[in-house]
Amino acid sequence: MSIKGKRVAFLGAGNMGEALIKGLTQAGLVPAGSITASDPRSEHLAEIARRYGIRAVADNAELVKSADVIILAVKPQIMGAVLKEVSSAVDEGKLLISIAAGVATKKLREQLGRPVRLIRVMPNTPALVLEGVTAIARAEGLFAAVGKVVVLEEGAMDAVTGLSGSGPAYVAMTIEALADGGVKMGLDRAIAMTLAAQTVLGSARLLLDTGVHPGQLKDMVSSPGGTTIAGIAALEDGGLRRAFIQAVERATLRSRELGAS
Ligand SMILES: NC(=O)c1ccc[n+]([C@@H]2O[C@H](COP(=O)([O-])OP(=O)(O)OC[C@H]3O[C@@H](n4cnc5c(N)ncnc54)[C@H](OP(=O)(O)O)[C@@H]3O)[C@@H](O)[C@H]2O)c1
Repeated sequence: MSIKGKRVAFLGAGNMGEALIKGLTQAGLVPAGSITASDPRSEHLAEIARRYGIRAVADNAELVKSADVIILAVKPQIMGAVLKEVSSAVDEGKLLISIAAGVATKKLREQLGRPVRLIRVMPNTPALVLEGVTAIARAEGLFAAVGKVVVLEEGAMDAVTGLSGSGPAYVAMTIEALADGGVKMGLDRAIAMTLAAQTVLGSARLLLDTGVHPGQLKDMVSSPGGTTIAGIAALEDGGLRRAFIQAVERATLRSRELGAS
């Protein structure tokens, strides 16, 4: 299904809903006039509508009725209630896309209680700047507009949630910590933040563009007896790798837990 010419609705205009709305309008794939959104906080919704030129709709069933593609962007815990609310407005001509962490398509279908075209995806907030990565059970142009897309089996979605769904928070903490190190060693805060964020961005770009292995990049910048290997030894002392591996593992398990509840 091509997204061109389709009316796209966001059920929930929170952090991720807004990231996708911003990304989509910026990418120019869907005209702002074809995008609608609902959210219980009417002032917040009005602000989103004003900011991106989209249309605010107060009633969820009304929102679903007037759209071809509906992005389910509410928290997993309230998904069941929301699907009940909109069930009667869904028909087979519409495509529902859930971005909720941990909720299996089987469960979503049960909650809707009627046959429907439905896919589950896991985007991340860098979609805001068209640098998102979305794991998806079927190729879909909409998410390609806001970053990279990887096609995976649904069984892998919890691990995707633990890595790229939650990952922007881990990277933000990494950048903040690097900047703190710079400040500790006498750098101005704003300069330290720029250096830290750009170092993360530049290193990621280098790895993605060249296909170089991260270990190789690390070795390239570690001269014998030099500064980088001294820093690396400190990271190993601090258990950096173990901490990241455990973060992805725990977030994955939490995603499974949310899906089971
Ligand atoms: N944030 C991420 O990085 C990320 C990444 C991948 C996937 N996700 C998934 O995206 C979904 C949304 O996450 P989020 O971080 O964007 O959460 P969020 O900021 O809380 O956004 C959810 C929005 O839905 C609104 N909402 C609540 N009840 C509603 C209803 N009955 N009808 C319409 N809207 C309603 C909420 O309003 P109130 O605040 O007033 O309740 C809120 O604005 C979750 O399922 C999450 O698993 C998030």
